[in-house]
Amino acid sequence: MTDPREVLVRDLTAARERTLLLTDHDEPELLRQHTPLLSPLVWDLAHIGQQEDLWLLRRGDATRPGLLPPDVEALYDAFTQPRAVRAQLPLLPPVEARAYCREVRGRVLDRVERLGQDTGEAGDDAFEVAMVVSHEQQHDETMLQALALRAGPPLLGAGAPLPPGRPGVAGTSVAVPAGEFVLGVDGAAEPFSLDNERPAHVVDVPAFRIGRVPVTNGEYAAFVADGGYRDDRWWSARGRAHRDEAGLTAPMYWGAGGPAGTRTRFGVVEELPRDEPVQHVTWFEAEAYAAWAGARLPSEVEWEKAAAWDPALRRRRRFPWGDTEPTAALANLDGAALRPAPVGAYPAGASAYGVEQLMGDVWEWTSSDLTPWPGFRPMLYADYSAPFFGGDYKVLRGGSWAVGASILRPSFRNWDHPIRRQVFSGIRLAWDG
Ligand code: AVJ
Ligand code: FE
Repeated sequence: MTDPREVLVRDLTAARERTLLLTDHDEPELLRQHTPLLSPLVWDLAHIGQQEDLWLLRRGDATRPGLLPPDVEALYDAFTQPRAVRAQLPLLPPVEARAYCREVRGRVLDRVERLGQDTGEAGDDAFEVAMVVSHEQQHDETMLQALALRAGPPLLGAGAPLPPGRPGVAGTSVAVPAGEFVLGVDGAAEPFSLDNERPAHVVDVPAFRIGRVPVTNGEYAAFVADGGYRDDRWWSARGRAHRDEAGLTAPMYWGAGGPAGTRTRFGVVEELPRDEPVQHVTWFEAEAYAAWAGARLPSEVEWEKAAAWDPALRRRRRFPWGDTEPTAALANLDGAALRPAPVGAYPAGASAYGVEQLMGDVWEWTSSDLTPWPGFRPMLYADYSAPFFGGDYKVLRGGSWAVGASILRPSFRNWDHPIRRQVFSGIRLAWDG
C-alpha cells in the first residue's frame, strides 16, 4: 500500500469499526457510568466525532461553526467537563451521536480523497488524519477499560484465542550494554508520530538489565502471599499512603465477585491465569513489587533503547522485531483477545536485545515522569501533550492488548497518575547493569 490516502482510509475505517462494535449496546448501557474515572460510552462516542470535526473539518479553529450547536459541542470538551460529571450532562442520545459521527466521517472521507491532489504527496494533512485515528483508537481503549468494569453477563464474549506461552521465560532478563542510542523519532522517519515522541536525539545510557517478559500474575501472587502489601519496606511514603487510603491488597479485579484465586472482568469469572502478565496495578504497586523482587522499574529511556535499538547496525528499528508492520504472530494488539497473552507467546516479536512482548499485552509502568524531549514542538492539537508535562504523571510504554496496532510505535508515550489502575497497566523489571 504505497498511496498514503489508502492507508489513511484503511486506518480510519478500522478505528470506526471498532468504535461501533464497542458501542453496539442499548441506550441504558451506553449512558451508564461504571466509575467516576471513566465516561459513559455515549460521551466517548460523540467526543470522537467532535474531535474529528474540530481537527479535520475546521483545522482546529474552534471559532468556526462545527456540525453541532456550540452549547452541545461544549459538552464534549475534555478539559471543561471532568470525567466524573459526564453522566449528568444533557448528552446526545446514542442515535444522534452515531448520526453525528457518520456525518463528520463522510465529510472527512471526501477531504481525504482530495489530499495531495496537486503534489501527489499527502504532507501535513495526512498527519492530521493519522492524529485523529490515534485519538479514536485511544478512546476505544478507554471504552474497553469501562467495559472491563461492567458487572453482569458479558457483552463482548470471551475474547479471541492467543498463542501459547513458553515455559521458563518468566523471571529471566537480558543485558543491555552501556552506550549511546537515538531516543525518539523525527517526522521524516515516522510521519505519524505524535508531538511528544519527537525529535530524535542521541542519549547515552548506562548498562542495565531488563526483564525478558513482563511480570506474571503467578510472580505477583507470590508477592501478595509473602505479605508484600503489609510490609512497609517495599513501599514509598506516597505509595504507603495511597495503599492505606484506597485499601489496596491485590491488583484490581482479583477475587472481585468470585472466590480467592479468581478474577472477574468483562463480566467473566475465571481462575487467575498464572502465566499471563499482571495487569491493573498502580504505579505504586509496581514500585513496591519491584523493590520486593530486588529490582526497579526501567526508565522510559532504557525501555525505548531495549525496544528499538539495533546495536549491530547502530540504528533504530521501526518495531522491536524489525521494520515490518505488526501481525498476530508478532504482538497481541487491536483488542480482540480482551486479555494479555501468556509470557513467551511471541518469540518472533523479540527486540535486537532479545526482549519480548514489548508491544501489546500490557502497558508497562516506567520510573519516568512525563517531560518533553529537548526541542519539543506542539502539534496542531497543542493540548494533547503539553498541559500534562511536569504534572503528577508516570509514563507507560509499549501498549496493551487493547491498543489499535496502526497507532503504536516503540516511541509512543502514554501517561497516567501513579494512583490509577483502571488502565491495562503491568510491570517489567530492570536492574543496574
Ligand atoms: C494519552 C491516553 C493519556 O486518555 O487522557 C484522549 C489520550 N487525549 N483524548 C487520555 C487522549 C485526548 C490520553 N492519554
Ligand atoms: Fe479525547
